[in-house]
Amino acid sequence: MPSDLKAAKGTKDILPEEASAWQHVEETSRRHFALYGFEEIRTPIFEPTELFNKSTGSETDIVTKEMYTFTDRSERSLTLRPEGTPGVVRAALEHALLRKGEVERLYYIGPMFRYERPQKGRSRQFSQIGVEVFGSAHAAVDAEVMEMVLALFRKLGVAQSSLQVNSVGCAACRPRYRTALQEALAPYRDKLCPDCVKRLDTNPLRILDCKVPGCIEIRQKAPSILSFLCEECRQHFEQVRGLLDALGVAYQVNERLVRGLDYYTRTTFEVASSSLGAQDALCGGGRYDDLVASMGGPATPGFGFAIGADRLVMVLSESPGRDITAPPADVYVVHLGAAGLKEALVAARKLRESGLAARLDPDPKDVKKQMSRASAWGARYALIIGERELERGAYTLKRMSDGFQRELRAGDWDEVAREIAAGGGHAVGA
Ligand code: HAM
Repeated sequence: MPSDLKAAKGTKDILPEEASAWQHVEETSRRHFALYGFEEIRTPIFEPTELFNKSTGSETDIVTKEMYTFTDRSERSLTLRPEGTPGVVRAALEHALLRKGEVERLYYIGPMFRYERPQKGRSRQFSQIGVEVFGSAHAAVDAEVMEMVLALFRKLGVAQSSLQVNSVGCAACRPRYRTALQEALAPYRDKLCPDCVKRLDTNPLRILDCKVPGCIEIRQKAPSILSFLCEECRQHFEQVRGLLDALGVAYQVNERLVRGLDYYTRTTFEVASSSLGAQDALCGGGRYDDLVASMGGPATPGFGFAIGADRLVMVLSESPGRDITAPPADVYVVHLGAAGLKEALVAARKLRESGLAARLDPDPKDVKKQMSRASAWGARYALIIGERELERGAYTLKRMSDGFQRELRAGDWDEVAREIAAGGGHAVGA
């Protein structure tokens, strides 16, 4: 009977059939990042609330409206992390990972929490796969890391993704743009949404990525941030673009890409997928050269991104012809009688030692029933250990796709594993 107890709004269970797609995405990401010299960091899921006020930004939607904040039994204010970057910077400072002149490359995978209106591709608990590079302001980092994320998407088989890049300038040139933007949009104050009316005074750049149709129209009147960049920022952006070209990475410049977090300087970017609908950003990130110092650390430039893993899995499972969700199902060991069960347990153990996925029925009815369980599991082979086989000191190996059978000598595990591997699919020893 279904229970009244349900997952909280905006959260979901990942059931076994979907979990293998998650594992595939996470493992592929880990291996891919390692090729670029990244190492994993795992930080706590909750942090002192002030961390996010000081880093994500006290005027951002995330901090003002979306955080899960609570006081613990000692009256400390804690917050479930809404993004990964602040915790990684805090940990890097706390454990002195940022040594002068060295570049530190870190990645993380895990859940984040934002109190947002749930819709397709947007939930209150979601998972990010993120990276942060500390210690170099060079445009080569920006280009290499953007190339890395696109290569990962290609490896995973993401179809139709596009990279958009922009520069939001630095503390020297952005204030001039801010003023120009306020002046350009002030005449339209009463046509902006209530949030953007506030933003016009507090954080006008955020108007550029408001999703309300009226605001989208008004921002056509906004000047381009690119024409306000100082000479250093202009050159940096030019270098980023030149290096993306050199790496053969296709991109579009989107001068309205400002992103919803306060710490960005210079490069910002997003990768979107046209198959996602309104929440189409698969990944977002950029450069944050002032963040570490603003959190009390030594002046250390930074660059990073986070992929929305839920969206990535969604895109992959919707791609036609892709079957990343199938876990390996190599051999179902079919057996009869007490002697058969013992032999079957040993067989399953030996096959697993060779890297093959094996299952058996601990409480079997008859061979027919076991064969139907083997197909329900999706097994490529059935290894049959019946009375006739036990008498003859042999096993029957049956290929499920076409019923082809071969008799093999009992206990010759190498031969069994070789035969299964030759049948294609899952690799022996993988
Ligand atoms: P963000 O753009 O806020 O950036 O989030 C990155 C990605 O997380 C988004 O592109 C999206 O795929 C996913 N995401 C965000 N909110 C939700 C949600 N409610 N439901 C599902 N997916 C979501 C950051 O978080 C920065 N920390 C990225 C970064 C790292 N910048 C520099 N380093």
